[in-house]
Amino acid sequence: MTASLPPFDFARFQSLLTTTLIGRPLVYRPVVGSTMDLARREAAEGAVHGTAVFAEEQTAGRGRRGRTFFSPAGANIYVTFILRCSLELHRTLPVRVPVAVAEALAAVVPEAAIKWPNDIWVGGLKVCGMLIDGELEAEGPVAFPGIGINVNFDPSTAQPDLQRIATSLAAVLGRPVDREALFARLCNELERTLAAPAADVLARYRERNLVLGRRVHVSPVGGAPFEALAVDLDDAGALVVERDSGVRETVTAADVT
Ligand code: BTN
Repeated sequence: MTASLPPFDFARFQSLLTTTLIGRPLVYRPVVGSTMDLARREAAEGAVHGTAVFAEEQTAGRGRRGRTFFSPAGANIYVTFILRCSLELHRTLPVRVPVAVAEALAAVVPEAAIKWPNDIWVGGLKVCGMLIDGELEAEGPVAFPGIGINVNFDPSTAQPDLQRIATSLAAVLGRPVDREALFARLCNELERTLAAPAADVLARYRERNLVLGRRVHVSPVGGAPFEALAVDLDDAGALVVERDSGVRETVTAADVT
C-alpha cells in the first residue's frame, strides 16, 4: 500500500470540489512539523476562511492532550482547516467536524462511526483522529480543526502498540483508496455541515456514534476513572453520563484523558 506513493493529484481534487469556500485555497506541503502550526502561521498572515493546510507527512503531528499523532507518508490525509467563524459556530465544532468527517468516510467504509470525543473507528480500530484548536485574532475568532485520516497507510509498518488500536481505510478494504476523491468529499461535507442547523447535525451525530446508550469508560484528567452510561450529547459535544448511583454529570473532551 505504501510501496509506491502516487503524488497528490490537484486537478482531480479540484474537479471534485463543489464548495465555494472550504478547501479553497489548498496550502500543500510534502512535509511539515504539524499542519496545526502551519495553519496558525497562515492565519496570522491573513489566510482566508476555508483555507486547507495539507501535508503528506508530519514530523511532529499532534494529538489531544499533547500526545503525538503518528503521521508517516503513505497517501494519507493530514489537514488543518482555517475557519473564521463566530464564537457560537466555534462552540458547536466538536459535533460538526466529526459528523462531516464520518459522513465523508462512510462513503468509502459505510461502518465508519464516531468514537467520542474525537475519533472515527471502523471495526473496533481507529482510522482518524481530530483536534480542534482556536485563537482570538484581532479580526475575530479563528478555529483550526485538524484531521488525520489513515487512508492508504500500511498498519503493518507501525509500532505494535499502534497496530493494536489503529488501522487504515485501505487495510480495511484490502485495496487502495482514492484519497483526492475522499479529501474533496470531506471538504464538501464540512461546508454542508457548517451551514446546517445545530439540531440536524446533532441528529446526524447520534446516528453515527458508538457511545450513546452504551456504558463508557471515563478517564477524567487528574481524577479516578469510572464506568457510566452515556445518556446524551449536547450541541457543543459534551457528553452527559449517568453513574451507577444515578448521578448525572457532563464531561467535555477537555475533561478526559
Ligand atoms: C488525536 O487522535 O488525538 C487527534 C489527532 C489529530 C491529528 C491531526 S493530523 C492534522 C493535524 N495536524 C496535527 O498535528 N494534528 C492534526
